[in-house]
Amino acid sequence: MIRPFLILCVIFLHCNGEFLSNKIRKFPDGFQFGASTSAYQIEGGWYEDGKGLSIWDIATHTDPSQIKDKSTGDVAADSYHLYKRDVEIAKELGLDFYRFSVSWPRILPKGFSEQINQAGIDYYNNLIDELLKNNIKPFLTMYHWDLPYELQKLGGWVNPYIIDWFVDYAKVLYDNFGDRVKLWTTINEPKQICYEGYGSTLKAPMLNVTGVAEYICAKNVLLAHAKAYHLYDEHYRKIQNGTIGISISCTWFEPASDTVDDHQAAIDARQFDWGQYAHPIFSKAGDFPLELKRNIALKSAEQGYPRSRLPELSASEICLIRGSSDFFGVNSYTTKLTYRDASLEGMYAVPSYMDDMAAVIISNPAWPQAQSTWLQEVPWGFHKILKEIMKLYDNPPVYITENGWSTSGGLLDEDRIRYYRNYLNVLLDAIEEGCDVRKFTAWTLIDNFEWKNGYTEKFGLYEVDFSSEKHNRTPRKSAYIYKEIIRTRTLDPTYEPEKFSV
Ligand SMILES: *[C@@H]1O[C@H](CO)[C@@H](O)[C@H](O)[C@H]1NC(C)=O
Ligand SMILES: *[C@@H]1O[C@H](CO)[C@@H](O)[C@H](O)[C@H]1NC(C)=O
Repeated sequence: MIRPFLILCVIFLHCNGEFLSNKIRKFPDGFQFGASTSAYQIEGGWYEDGKGLSIWDIATHTDPSQIKDKSTGDVAADSYHLYKRDVEIAKELGLDFYRFSVSWPRILPKGFSEQINQAGIDYYNNLIDELLKNNIKPFLTMYHWDLPYELQKLGGWVNPYIIDWFVDYAKVLYDNFGDRVKLWTTINEPKQICYEGYGSTLKAPMLNVTGVAEYICAKNVLLAHAKAYHLYDEHYRKIQNGTIGISISCTWFEPASDTVDDHQAAIDARQFDWGQYAHPIFSKAGDFPLELKRNIALKSAEQGYPRSRLPELSASEICLIRGSSDFFGVNSYTTKLTYRDASLEGMYAVPSYMDDMAAVIISNPAWPQAQSTWLQEVPWGFHKILKEIMKLYDNPPVYITENGWSTSGGLLDEDRIRYYRNYLNVLLDAIEEGCDVRKFTAWTLIDNFEWKNGYTEKFGLYEVDFSSEKHNRTPRKSAYIYKEIIRTRTLDPTYEPEKFSV
């Protein structure tokens, strides 16, 4: 019963907060700014011009009650028709690059590369050309969760053949877009794909084969990424001269107290959350992290499994994966407190990812809360992530590929402005302390379909009017602030946009 006391201590320690000085701080030369979106969340056109179905089309149509407001991405922000306006917005903001994702089933309706949907190729060609015409670099994400349903019928990310299917798809993208696209992410957020999609019901395909499917998926995602990377590295890089990497979601887990147990719980949580994917790629040793291998092997043995539920990586697989990313794409939003409590055994399904991790994860109610329940503003946690990546992985080039804040709506978004300023402020601290952070990407350009939360959470720098067929886009106050940061390449905490009026 000492928990509440310990947690209060933590609240006290971390509550004196981040005080932004009024100092104007400059970003390093060459630092680039962008904004990010993903195909299913904004495009709509779900059944147009030969597009195949994705697992999100199936999830939203077969059981609408799984989505908070029973909505779908059928139309979303209608970017399939309004992409020129999206590029105009990117131009208004002065973005250096725009990170978007390609819908695999829009290009390959059945998932396989024997049948290419030309209308899909045309759509992305138009988008890419429009960006380049406006001097904005296209940053292409190959996979942001909308798997072709035809491949899910075959098991999706738990079928090892998906490694080949993904590489075939990557080849189609390099062949069609690589002459103009020089920035690539293979896979966006493996944890959300594997744990949330296969080891629980939080994301499509909501497989919920807990404690088993998420680890098979992790191995296949890592190998699919690595093989797509090597295909580019060995066959395309010489001609196309691009940069290619992976984006991993990184939450900071802070020990809830100074005990050895709580420290170990925080380390375990970080290794399950992002080390699981980062360690095999970015560490010197390669392979899954020790904490992951140890915890899952121990639990599996206790539970009577003949071998660990975490698949092994062979020596040649370890080699293939290690070093297979030109940059560490960090998607980071928030921080959690972590502790170990033996008496809470039994609170998670057995077997499961959470039970294997054996850490209890809580939020600190004193931290500013976004519209999304999982999202609180904790800039010092973001700072610790950047320092930890520098330390663990020998200071790789880091691109922040997502960071952002949700509200319930409205154009006057003071808390989003405060969030971005505080996060960019500690990002500058990290750079001064030696972290090799080179790009920052706001999530997101425009309001979108926020997965199981539908349209109830607004992350956009621009508001989208989902109630009108026109889907008008209007800049929020934060858009003017971000625009000024990009224009001046400085962080000025006192800047107020003159032109902004609601
Ligand atoms: C997911 O599976 C676990 C068993 O591993 C079960 O306890 C839980 O109720 C399932 N969740 C849903 C939403 O079906
Ligand atoms: C390749 O790209 C780099 C920047 O990423 C540039 O400096 C270099 O000139 C390019 N080389 C060729 C051959 O295009």
